[in-house]
Amino acid sequence: MSKPHPPALRTAGELKITNGSGTANGPAISKGPAPANGAVTASEPRPPGMPGLQPNITTAVPGPKSRALFAEEQSHIAPGRQRISLLASLAFDHGEGATLTDVDGNVFVDFFAGVGVASLGHAHPALVRALAHQASRLIVGTFATPERAEAFRLLGEAAPAGLERAHLYSGGAEAVEAALRLARSKTKRHEVLSFWGGFHGKTGGVIGLIGDESKQGYGPLPGGQYMVPYADCYRCPFKMEYPRCGMYCVDFARQQLKRSSAGALAAVVAEPMQGTAGNVIPPDDYLPAVQQVAREHGAMLIADEMITGFGRTGRMWGIEHSGVAPDIMTVGKGMGSGFPVSGVLLSEELGRSEPFGKPSASSSSYGGNPLAAVAVAETLRTIKREGLVENSAAVGAFLLERLMRLREKYEFVGDVRGKGLLIGVDLVRDRKSREMLGRSITEAIFKEALKRGLLVMGYFPRMRINPPLVITREQAAAGAEILDEVFAHVRDHLDWRNAP
Ligand SMILES: Cc1ncc(COP(=O)(O)O)c(C=O)c1O
Repeated sequence: MSKPHPPALRTAGELKITNGSGTANGPAISKGPAPANGAVTASEPRPPGMPGLQPNITTAVPGPKSRALFAEEQSHIAPGRQRISLLASLAFDHGEGATLTDVDGNVFVDFFAGVGVASLGHAHPALVRALAHQASRLIVGTFATPERAEAFRLLGEAAPAGLERAHLYSGGAEAVEAALRLARSKTKRHEVLSFWGGFHGKTGGVIGLIGDESKQGYGPLPGGQYMVPYADCYRCPFKMEYPRCGMYCVDFARQQLKRSSAGALAAVVAEPMQGTAGNVIPPDDYLPAVQQVAREHGAMLIADEMITGFGRTGRMWGIEHSGVAPDIMTVGKGMGSGFPVSGVLLSEELGRSEPFGKPSASSSSYGGNPLAAVAVAETLRTIKREGLVENSAAVGAFLLERLMRLREKYEFVGDVRGKGLLIGVDLVRDRKSREMLGRSITEAIFKEALKRGLLVMGYFPRMRINPPLVITREQAAAGAEILDEVFAHVRDHLDWRNAP
């Protein structure tokens, strides 16, 4: 569905750097701990076909320097930070490609990527150079710049047909909120349908759309928000089986709307594949059926591609697997490869809807600032130049096959599913009941993996695997081998069936 890019206008190597220690072809690039003089730390790209860094653990994990830094930070940071960072208790020094190196010098293969943020991996030299170059010229946004114009052009070329216009923002929730305002501007209605297991951010306008209990304690939630089960077939709440179910969940959504809506549905918000729920992959005909429900109500389908976009699923966009054409798309995470940038993709006609389309009605202080713009443009150029969508499909298929073998080997591996480098693994006490493994076991899995050099969201029984798109086959194999060792440890030494 995505259209090919024309050849990149210029490559990072052609950028002229004029600051400090830089050369005509870019800033000084060095390896190892960040130097005090602030020179950019990054490695040159490994030539295609090279295996990349491998895990290498040389101290206890966390090591002494990590422990000291973590403790220092803990004495100032407020509670509520990410569970994965609390459990890991690590302090990182730098990254290279699909690896992270901690302050004690331990190297980890990264199956986390900042929840799919690090699409180009860590310290990609092209991105480092582009950001450093831009930082030396202009950081504050609002006005057109050559870089911003190019970012919008490249984004429009990569976008699905009909969604060639964009607004840029800084965070995912902000983008989804903007998409809702757009849908309301167009339809002049206000209600929203979302899905069990869905996640769209934590701000006031979208927190009610979170499909789990994490919104409890934040009421009253906005009115007119309804929620129905997603096609999470391994955990079907109707205890049915696809395709014999005839996608009863879609029928249920119809019934739910009929009985609860005030007849003012503006939007249906769906992830093409659910990330936070556990990298859940619905059948390919699910999203088109959901769009049909939206159509029956004259509502917009918003595809939230925050996780699934930018090559994550082995295609440029998650929607390409089902062929659905949403009215609005929200994007972020891998879009800036670590730089905080998100966006809403829409059609020219939809963009004229008011009040959304009025001057200043849909802008923000930082959205599309010059650094964000170069991050988007360089990410898109690099994805194209290095064939990262293809790498995501190929290495993803390879990794999926390796993980399927673990399902054959370990009784507690209940389900393995994936598209590209978005892979989910359900860990269960019992394959028949599908009851999830206890938290003490999954946290042990997370820590045992770290000890062997793998960072993976395995602390939850719906394990999420979403490495950088630059991961090599060798690194993926190393990660899968570590999981094999960890699962053998669980089987042989832990009471996985009964532990809380
Ligand atoms: C699908 C989806 N939408 C929106 C968001 C919210 O993004 P942010 O945390 O940047 O607000 C997330 C975050 O994980 C997400 O996965």
